[in-house]
Amino acid sequence: AFVVGENCIKCKYTDCVEVCPVDCFYEGPNFLVIHPDECIDCALCEPECPANAIFSEDEVPEDQQEFIELNAVLADVWDNITEKKDSLPDADEWDGVKGKLEHLER
Ligand code: SF4
Ligand code: F3S
Repeated sequence: AFVVGENCIKCKYTDCVEVCPVDCFYEGPNFLVIHPDECIDCALCEPECPANAIFSEDEVPEDQQEFIELNAVLADVWDNITEKKDSLPDADEWDGVKGKLEHLER
């Protein structure tokens, strides 16, 4: 499955959800996740993310390995999102900031 990584936090551009053929994105207050059991590995979402936050499961950076489990856990409790909406207000300022996991709202 594909995995949403740390740089989505506090950005949430949502361009990714528009291209997913199986609608497997789930939305929290300031982060999105992919349901690992629903993702068909089509790879369409990866280039759509302006924050480069999406990775194939086997290409998730070493320091973001915990996001694999995080996507699985949160996809079960958050609501499905299938249409693009406005990004978070300070998305461009937060794009690329390190250590955003501490800001994850759930
Ligand atoms: Fe959806 Fe394809 Fe991205 Fe998986 S890889 S989340 S199926 S767009
Ligand atoms: Fe997040 Fe990128 Fe989608 S910032 S909401 S993974 S387009």
